[in-house]
Amino acid sequence: MLKLIIFQLTLYLSHTYTTAQPKFISRVCQDTFGNYTANSPFKKNLDTLLSTIVSNTNIDYGFYNFSVGTNLDIVNGIGLCSPELPVHDCRSCLSNAARAIVHSCPNQKDAIGWYDSCMIRYSNRYIFHKLEFGPWYKVHYPILRSIDKGLYNKTASTLLTKLQARAAFGNSLRKFAADKANVTSDFTVYAIVQCTPDLESFDCYSCLGHAIATYYQQEGQQARLFFTSCNIRLFHDYMLYDLSSLNSLLPQTQGKASKKWRVFVEILLPIIASLLILAAIFGCYFSRKRSKLKNRIKHM
Ligand SMILES: *[C@@H]1O[C@H](CO)[C@@H](O)[C@H](O)[C@H]1NC(C)=O
Ligand SMILES: *[C@@H]1O[C@H](CO)[C@@H](O)[C@H](O)[C@H]1NC(C)=O
Ligand SMILES: *[C@@H]1O[C@H](CO)[C@@H](O)[C@H](O)[C@H]1NC(C)=O
Ligand SMILES: *[C@@H]1O[C@H](CO)[C@@H](O)[C@H](O)[C@H]1NC(C)=O
Repeated sequence: MLKLIIFQLTLYLSHTYTTAQPKFISRVCQDTFGNYTANSPFKKNLDTLLSTIVSNTNIDYGFYNFSVGTNLDIVNGIGLCSPELPVHDCRSCLSNAARAIVHSCPNQKDAIGWYDSCMIRYSNRYIFHKLEFGPWYKVHYPILRSIDKGLYNKTASTLLTKLQARAAFGNSLRKFAADKANVTSDFTVYAIVQCTPDLESFDCYSCLGHAIATYYQQEGQQARLFFTSCNIRLFHDYMLYDLSSLNSLLPQTQGKASKKWRVFVEILLPIIASLLILAAIFGCYFSRKRSKLKNRIKHM
């Protein structure tokens, strides 16, 4: 119990004081896409790429996407910060992440690493504008007081579903959404969901859907789910970012065109998705029926 409290406190503190050295949460070094050696052109390109990301001072929307090199030695890289992170903290998070990833993955041509508030990845493959669920990683922090699990789950799921649509509705620089909801009068859940903004809306929507479904498998906990193309973070009780200033970063939703688009994303998209699932189920059912029929005909 004491351990848990300390853990929560550490989590709290590391968010309150962004200057504190944050922890490298996890990383995946992928062998299957090839290895490089210490003095190779690939390694040189990788170093250039990482320093390009870390030293860039033009980008203020927390998403860095660069390539260095050509053909066999190309390195594509993405850096993504949590939307609440100020530019300066974002760069310092990415800088730590860049150092950690070359240290942890000394010769893999494909790797991804997560801090609590930023992600860095690189690959010799083309990784831009592409929906990728994995590698992924999740962290759960238990709720420290008793709460109606069903009510909690209902509140969190309503909140997440709303944010999923909002984030997908973002633009090519920012695809995220953040909000809070009351579970009870004295218990509030906060959530931030985010996609790499180079994704299509539909891909962002489906990545978050996947992350949310994964979250549901473990009921009633605050959590971080880091997927390759998107992530969700749930916090309880404490406010670690200013919702209104966070939301002011998002594209404004005035104007008829964007209203229509919003209707599409928030209402039609879920309907289309459910219809596709239904169609798939029916498809399976009928093709099974047909093959049963065929079998029966064969046996006659
Ligand atoms: C990369 O090296 C690892 C061992 O360090 C090996 O298991 C893996 O098969 C190699 N991958 C390729 C594509 O050569
Ligand atoms: C990098 O990201 C920006 C913003 O989303 C986008 O406009 C641009 O096309 C991306 N570049 C590449 C190489 O994908
Ligand atoms: C949540 O509860 C607080 C305190 O009871 C209240 O002030 C606030 O309006 C509630 N928020 C929502 C979104 O219901
Ligand atoms: C939480 O709610 C979601 C959505 O209503 C549901 O799919 C999920 O099974 C629930 N999780 C648990 C553990 O009850």
